[in-house]
Amino acid sequence: MDVSKVLKEALSELEKSNNDDSIQSLRVKYLGKKGLITDLLKSLKDLSVEDKKKFGASVNLAKEELLKKINTHSLEINKKNINEKLSKESIDITFPPPISQLGKLHPISKTYKEVIDIFGNMGFSVAEGPDIETDFNNFTALNIPEDHPAREMQDTFYLNEKDELDKPFVLRTHTSPVQIRTMMNTKPPIKIIAPGRTYRCDSDSTHSPMFHQVEGLLINEDANMGHLKGNLINFCKDFFHINDLKVRFRPSYFPFTEPSAEMDIAYSIVDNKIKLGEGDKWLEILGCGMVNPKVIENCKMDSSKFQGYAFGLGLDRITMLKHGLTDIRSFFNGNNNWLKANGFSLGRI
Ligand code: DAH
Repeated sequence: MDVSKVLKEALSELEKSNNDDSIQSLRVKYLGKKGLITDLLKSLKDLSVEDKKKFGASVNLAKEELLKKINTHSLEINKKNINEKLSKESIDITFPPPISQLGKLHPISKTYKEVIDIFGNMGFSVAEGPDIETDFNNFTALNIPEDHPAREMQDTFYLNEKDELDKPFVLRTHTSPVQIRTMMNTKPPIKIIAPGRTYRCDSDSTHSPMFHQVEGLLINEDANMGHLKGNLINFCKDFFHINDLKVRFRPSYFPFTEPSAEMDIAYSIVDNKIKLGEGDKWLEILGCGMVNPKVIENCKMDSSKFQGYAFGLGLDRITMLKHGLTDIRSFFNGNNNWLKANGFSLGRI
């Protein structure tokens, strides 16, 4: 049989094939187990050694050429089909999806929003700082001395790069450095909150290496502990939706506040679940105090004229308490089923 005739036939058929199916049947017809070109190869066995060489080479060349052409033709057809489809179909990206297909709002995002709303209503504006901080802002300016345990490698992520004071940069261990940034760059009165990501080398069901805090800072000429307590009590009542929330302030120690306190809210266990707001057990919610005059001076402000209060609380922790969630890691493992069950409806935006 004439190889070039078979190839010519195959190529002209290929030219006419305009979809995947017809290309596939052409491939089978010529190159399949019982295909015409395969038959030619099979017929080699009856030829003399000399003919085998010559004929074999030409059949192989024909086979290769056909395969190559089939592949390029099939790519071209696919491209053409896709382009045709694209030119016919258009998607209106402004068309709202059905409610059932909307995603869910992550509980932390919801808390973020609520915290900003509640403090916003009290006149606090939002300040921000970077996740990668200088040693000065994260520790020194906040009156955390060189040998303070918070600086030790086991609870702080240090970077290799060093800042202009030749200290390694750190992933901020709290949102408190935003206090420093704000006091360095703004004149009092200052009234800000700073929500954001924070980092420590810690990981179990209640600690995550990346977590969230919100910092609060108020600086003016006459702020006092009463103002601080009033605002924090109002915040907790609002956030947990409990009007007669039972709270207490316990003396504590933070290098950047003097005096310092921790705020606890009362709880009891009812039917194996935490009931917030009443009872004789106490849960620590946040740290706070009057800004240490040393910190005010470190920020080049006159501590004989200005005073203020600060507070810091864990957003993940208050979210877990509010929604009865027990494992902080579930916030960050990206499990969509978990989010479907524990996230919040977005509604129409
Ligand atoms: N930065 C503290 C921490 O991460 C929390 C804190 C306590 C912040 C007292 C404050 C404060 O501003 O006054 O543990």
